[in-house]
Amino acid sequence: MNLILLGAPGAGKGTQAECICNVYGIPAISTGNIIREAVKNGTELGEKAKAFLDAGALVTDELVIALVKDRLAQPDCQNGFILDGFPRTVVQAEALDQMNVKIDTALDIEVADEAIVSRLSGRRVCSSCGASYHLEYNPSKTEGKCDSCGADLVQRKDDHPATVLERLRVYHEQTEPVKEYYSKQGKLTVVDGQGGVKDTSELVLKALEAVK
Ligand code: AP5
Repeated sequence: MNLILLGAPGAGKGTQAECICNVYGIPAISTGNIIREAVKNGTELGEKAKAFLDAGALVTDELVIALVKDRLAQPDCQNGFILDGFPRTVVQAEALDQMNVKIDTALDIEVADEAIVSRLSGRRVCSSCGASYHLEYNPSKTEGKCDSCGADLVQRKDDHPATVLERLRVYHEQTEPVKEYYSKQGKLTVVDGQGGVKDTSELVLKALEAVK
């Protein structure tokens, strides 16, 4: 299955991508994770992207389209993939169509803005392996430490409340039109993401069964 995950920042795309990846055995490609890793490693992409990332703005279409094109050409994507966080603009959606990949569905996880701020301000991520936690909804066993590797948990710079509000503004302005783009192609599937993680996973898997 070739799948796109849409939704506001903090709607739970990363959380659900992990669940889908386990069930369907296809790789989850998070453009956000790839960009953060590039910033951490100080690569050319990272140098170009850092200021956008920290400000809650989108990295340029040109950079992201090139990185997705490269990633989709790798052998592990031949039997399907989950795109988490791409496309984020109509220009990116058009570029994906031009790559000649057939998309089965664009699954949109809907969560109200008010819930987003609380989800993102409580998120903590492992500084070493990148595992994601939430102070209230998904706490680590030992406070401030990763369950998997024991490294310190930190808050993403762009999860500070003021930056979250900017990311939401950018989402409504630049990414919401992408829903319309796939709706017109008859490929948009909408799932309610307001419930807990398990409830949302059930809705997501049920929706994907109907697409298969
Ligand atoms: P990216 O990393 O893609 O950020 P995002 O879309 O803002 O997504 P998040 O990771 O913040 O949220 P999520 O929906 O995955 O939520 P999660 O599952 O973690 O991108 C970051 C930046 O990179 C962008 O701002 C941009 O600069 C750049 N970028 C990336 N892609 C780009 C592109 N295509 N073009 C241009 N620039 C690009 O959940 C959030 C929290 O809530 C977690 O703590 C989780 O435990 C909790 N949670 C999840 N589900 C639930 C639930 N059901 N109930 C309660 N809590 C929940």
